[in-house]
Amino acid sequence: MRRKSRDLFNLVKEKEIPEHIAIIMDGNGRWAKKKRLPRIAGHRKGVEILRDVIETASELKVKHLTLYAFSTENWKRPKPEVDALMSLLVEFFNKEIDELHMNKVKIQAIGDISKLPEKAKAATIQAINKTKENNGLQLNIAINYGGRAEIVRAIKAMIQDVHSGNLSIDSIDQDLISDYLYTKGIPDPDMLIRTSGEYRISNFLLYQIAYTEFVFTSSDVLWPEFNRERFLESILEFQGRKRRYGGLSSKGDK
Ligand code: FPP
Repeated sequence: MRRKSRDLFNLVKEKEIPEHIAIIMDGNGRWAKKKRLPRIAGHRKGVEILRDVIETASELKVKHLTLYAFSTENWKRPKPEVDALMSLLVEFFNKEIDELHMNKVKIQAIGDISKLPEKAKAATIQAINKTKENNGLQLNIAINYGGRAEIVRAIKAMIQDVHSGNLSIDSIDQDLISDYLYTKGIPDPDMLIRTSGEYRISNFLLYQIAYTEFVFTSSDVLWPEFNRERFLESILEFQGRKRRYGGLSSKGDK
């Protein structure tokens, strides 16, 4: 570990490690443009960055890391870019799965993976199955995911359950709604990181981010330039925040 990242690592307060970190990995295209490379080179570099981030999250004993890999809106990109992103997903699983499995990482997908090209779907399902008994970091990959689509799906499923007599309207509350989302069983994100200086949510985890702390990097940190040190700095920024959940004091206040 490099000196600076070791120092940062040691500064992280063990008792206040975020249980769930979500990331919008933005800026791959701009990074590639800056380097006069094709956009896909930016995505490829973006996948390489993940190694360090996943490893760091595992070492810190973060429970959940949720990555926005492909949104329901990303299908609108030119077909070669969509195809390349799908291939990168397959490549990521093929290349990394053994090491992830060895490190007890449990892979989960959120989103409608039934609509993925066959190879991407098969690789995703295989990774989920292989790692399902692991008890280390849970890596939730959002693929063909959209927050609004997720809410629509949940409402439809709830109405169906009401019609079939399996759910009473009176039992619908905020926790029950959470149970109808792709993220069932996953605590809401404590922090969300978005790189590249864009201050938007882009349809990510809309219901789940009610009390999430946002860490936005400036526009000179594009996702392919993110690294272990910047990840640790983001966690330190989170640890410097006071979370009040709408009240006057809460855990985290001192
Ligand atoms: C945003 O950059 C990034 C994406 C839309 C895709 C992120 C996907 C990966 C890093 C690869 C697949 C992921 C896994 C988990 C294997 P952008 O293209 O919108 O960048 P720009 O805003 O600079 O154009």
